[in-house]
Amino acid sequence: MDMRFRISILFFLVAILLPAGHSWGKDGHAIICKIAQSRLSENAGKAVEELLPEYAGNDLGSVCSWADQVKFIFHWSRPLHYIDTPDSLCNYQYSRDCKDEDGAKDRCVAGAINNYTKQLETYSQSSSSSGYNLTQALLFLSHFIGDIHQPLHVGFTSDRGGNTIDVHWYTRKTVLHHVWDDSIIDTALERIYDSNVDSLIEAIQQNITGEWADEVKSWEKCSSNQDACPDPYATEGVHAACDSAYKNVTDGSVLRDEYFLSRLPVVYLRLAQGGVRLAATLNRVLG
Ligand SMILES: *[C@@H]1O[C@H](CO)[C@@H](O)[C@H](O)[C@H]1NC(C)=O
Ligand SMILES: *[C@@H]1O[C@H](CO)[C@@H](O)[C@H](O)[C@H]1NC(C)=O
Ligand SMILES: *[C@@H]1O[C@H](CO)[C@@H](O)[C@H](O)[C@H]1NC(C)=O
Ligand SMILES: *[C@@H]1O[C@H](CO)[C@@H](O)[C@H](O)[C@H]1NC(C)=O
Ligand SMILES: [Zn+2]
Repeated sequence: MDMRFRISILFFLVAILLPAGHSWGKDGHAIICKIAQSRLSENAGKAVEELLPEYAGNDLGSVCSWADQVKFIFHWSRPLHYIDTPDSLCNYQYSRDCKDEDGAKDRCVAGAINNYTKQLETYSQSSSSSGYNLTQALLFLSHFIGDIHQPLHVGFTSDRGGNTIDVHWYTRKTVLHHVWDDSIIDTALERIYDSNVDSLIEAIQQNITGEWADEVKSWEKCSSNQDACPDPYATEGVHAACDSAYKNVTDGSVLRDEYFLSRLPVVYLRLAQGGVRLAATLNRVLG
């Protein structure tokens, strides 16, 4: 068997055998990447097209979950999808929180965003000078800017961002983390958008140019001379985790319409901010 084929089979087996774990689901990531790609400047759009792997065509959305698929072969990348903050503190500090379970500095989603932004900054130089695979840098960065906007990716340490909190989503047994990765989006798609992801993207884009137009400029801002600004996103994230995701939920909670309808606006906002900020970052780095 050809090596690439063997790897695809391995991915397929791994994908069906293991639950998704840490990340917006496939839809959440695709939504963020599609919103972002539609906002790229001409130069950044060209660079992205050139960096995307051939099988993606020119569709960043189709490879926005690549970083989840490679967790199983790039084991070192697993802690780069989230940040664990101290239980119940509801705040975030890079120097205190951005580390993996062994305490290795910078190994969290904010450190990874800085890392892959720096790698992409070498894009305009001659390709050999970087030494990094910039296709991978683009796919990691696009995924991680999505992840940092999922409130429970900046959650508490002892419940692993809601992964150990058992809940029912209506009648189905799941964990709170998964509700935020997938269930809220899935239920919205079914009930409101006729299961059409493009309609959901269109609805978010309408609010980006309408309802939220005045705020969008502040979402795009980054402190002077920086291309990436993950820290404020993480702070917003842990606040949304405390005020919305964890709020009124305990182990065994049954979550229904009241939770779905009150948290859906938070999910819309975080998907919108993720898309806008991914585009702004790529425009700064590749524009
Ligand atoms: C930075 O990127 C390199 C190349 O993918 C990787 O080996 C390293 O673990 C990354 N570090 C962080 C903190 O993202
Ligand atoms: C860069 O990474 C991509 C995605 O993993 C891979 O398809 C490609 O072959 C790599 N390029 C090089 C030059 O190693
Ligand atoms: C867009 O904004 C309107 C008005 O605030 C709101 O009712 C609707 O749910 C929002 N839709 C999305 C997808 O953000
Ligand atoms: C939490 O529960 C209290 C008491 O039922 C309620 O007043 C409040 O609105 C709830 N908060 C959220 C964010 O659901
Ligand atoms: Zn992830």
